[in-house]
Amino acid sequence: MSSFSTPQEQFWAGQFGDDYTDRNTGARWVASNLALFSRILAATSGVRSVIEFGANRGLNLLALRQLLPDARLAAVEINGKAVEALRQFPWLEVSHSSILDFKPKATSDLVLVKGVLIHLNPDVLPGVYELLHAASARYVCIVEYYNPSPVTIPYRGHTDKLFKRDFAGEVLARYPDLKLLDYGFVYHGDANFPQDDLTWFLLEKSS
Ligand SMILES: C[S@@+](CC[C@H](N)C(=O)[O-])C[C@H]1O[C@@H](n2cnc3c(N)ncnc32)[C@H](O)[C@@H]1O
Repeated sequence: MSSFSTPQEQFWAGQFGDDYTDRNTGARWVASNLALFSRILAATSGVRSVIEFGANRGLNLLALRQLLPDARLAAVEINGKAVEALRQFPWLEVSHSSILDFKPKATSDLVLVKGVLIHLNPDVLPGVYELLHAASARYVCIVEYYNPSPVTIPYRGHTDKLFKRDFAGEVLARYPDLKLLDYGFVYHGDANFPQDDLTWFLLEKSS
């Protein structure tokens, strides 16, 4: 875990990622995630396994555990402090790895990535799209910041650490066996269950 192929991985594995993990905690986030994933899962059926790429301390997985109590849940995460937090959950299979190095041993019914593609070096996206597609037995859920064309924006005083684009549109264009099942937006000003102005896309593989 000591050397990475992109500066963005180093950034998240190091102090910035530790501080993010300390800062982002709390029941309110899990409540918002419960609202989000109950909406997203409404269009699915038979989800028995989930893998989340870039899970941080598990705020999405805690919600998914409530909504899918019988499902096998797995997480891939680059930051050591976040992995420590994830390893507190006995029901979770945790891989301490960069997404860029991760090789799934099996497919999962639902592959989730939320607030992570926006932080990857754009050059690695084709390989990561391939991973999302290959790791999925049925659904791929992409929850990111949307922009119709690729843009780079400053992130907490850092450059080249936050990128917006049409991630789901690019995945759909690349893999004709995926179709768009549902999509939506969650506003930061939502009165009850805010998210960070996230757009979500649920894709399904045709069998
Ligand atoms: C903005 S946070 C989002 C966390 C979580 N998905 C959520 O929605 O609360 C981005 C997470 O992705 C992780 N991450 C970033 N790049 C990664 C990589 N190359 N491999 C694995 N995890 C990565 C970070 O360490 C961090 O935990």
